[in-house]
Amino acid sequence: MSLKGIHLTNFRKFSNLKISFNSDAVAIIGGNASGKTTILEAILHLSTGKGTLPANTYVKKGESFFRIKGIVSPATGGPQSEVLVFYDASKREKKILVNKKLISRLAQLIGLMPTISLNMHSFQWVWGPVEWRRKQIDLLLAQANRTYLEALIKHYRVLEQRNKALRTTKDRTLLLTYGQVLFETSEVIRKHRSELIESLNEISKQLLDRLMPDKKTALRLKYHFHNDDDWESKLDREMELGYTLWGAQRDQITWEVDGQDVASFLSRGEGSRLSLATVVAMWIWLSKHRGKVTFLVDDWEAFQDRKYLDAVPSFLLEAKPQNSAIFLASLNKLSGSRWQQVVL
Ligand SMILES: Nc1ncnc2c1ncn2[C@@H]1O[C@H](COP(=O)(O)OP(=O)(O)OP(=O)(O)O)[C@@H](O)[C@H]1O
Ligand SMILES: [Mg+2]
Repeated sequence: MSLKGIHLTNFRKFSNLKISFNSDAVAIIGGNASGKTTILEAILHLSTGKGTLPANTYVKKGESFFRIKGIVSPATGGPQSEVLVFYDASKREKKILVNKKLISRLAQLIGLMPTISLNMHSFQWVWGPVEWRRKQIDLLLAQANRTYLEALIKHYRVLEQRNKALRTTKDRTLLLTYGQVLFETSEVIRKHRSELIESLNEISKQLLDRLMPDKKTALRLKYHFHNDDDWESKLDREMELGYTLWGAQRDQITWEVDGQDVASFLSRGEGSRLSLATVVAMWIWLSKHRGKVTFLVDDWEAFQDRKYLDAVPSFLLEAKPQNSAIFLASLNKLSGSRWQQVVL
């Protein structure tokens, strides 16, 4: 089991809520506004230190802080850890403790309990901006690979320094030094991203066989990036504009059919199933690298035609890598007894 239980204090609608989990397949059942998304967002905090929304929006109205506590079994095995995320709204300050010890960087939490999320934001795999998809790919790789995480942190830190320097100094040597670091971090980032995109195409091919048989051969997740070998030649223009014109922070990841962005091609239902296949492929990929991965599925009814409603959870259980855990939020009780059903 990846997560033994959670304890929420002043987190969205919950003043005080404790839940114990005793299964790796948990269904959280409840009507609209019962708190399903809230629980999944709490689990996401335990895994990545944040949710999908700004921190202050999670504080219960009228209160000044939230606290999330969870007992987590690390993916690498070993003893359980207690993770505590505390946010003080008046100080706008977040504190994260692992086994009662304050951590100084989010990187110390990332990867302890690897997590993949399927939720209303996942449609952005088809219809969202490229920045969102790049972020998802980065979070996935960061959870799998320390080298990637460190390269990514360094890349964005140096990018910020370089952009600031482009606006404030004419020191070309300094700008070239920063540039050289960015060129190197970009290379590391791109190597990992390229390999990942290739694997995701492989894995999703089989999932699409089942989910969208008539489109599967044409669909391709594409990774676009420029060859930046000539980055030094852009320096004059960059000094004029005040920002960096090249690097891994500008790369694009897009699902395509015959070179065309799927956003303008797929039907609503097809797009939601492609989003589902993408995220499940990420779950399978991460499990291969990390063993135990927690999959958070919100509103699973949204990802399938009405006709196949019942088929999605069985599809998920069949795709479920050994050892991994699934938390699935649903409006309806699920048929079959393979789920621990938490009714809100
Ligand atoms: N900061 C907050 N303080 C108090 N209540 C909040 C806060 N943020 C959200 N809520 C409320 O918490 C309730 C539960 O929200 P949540 O999104 O978890 O519901 P849900 O079970 O996922 O519903 P749905 O099926 O509609 O997706 C909502 O009524 C929401 O307005
Ligand atoms: Mg919800």
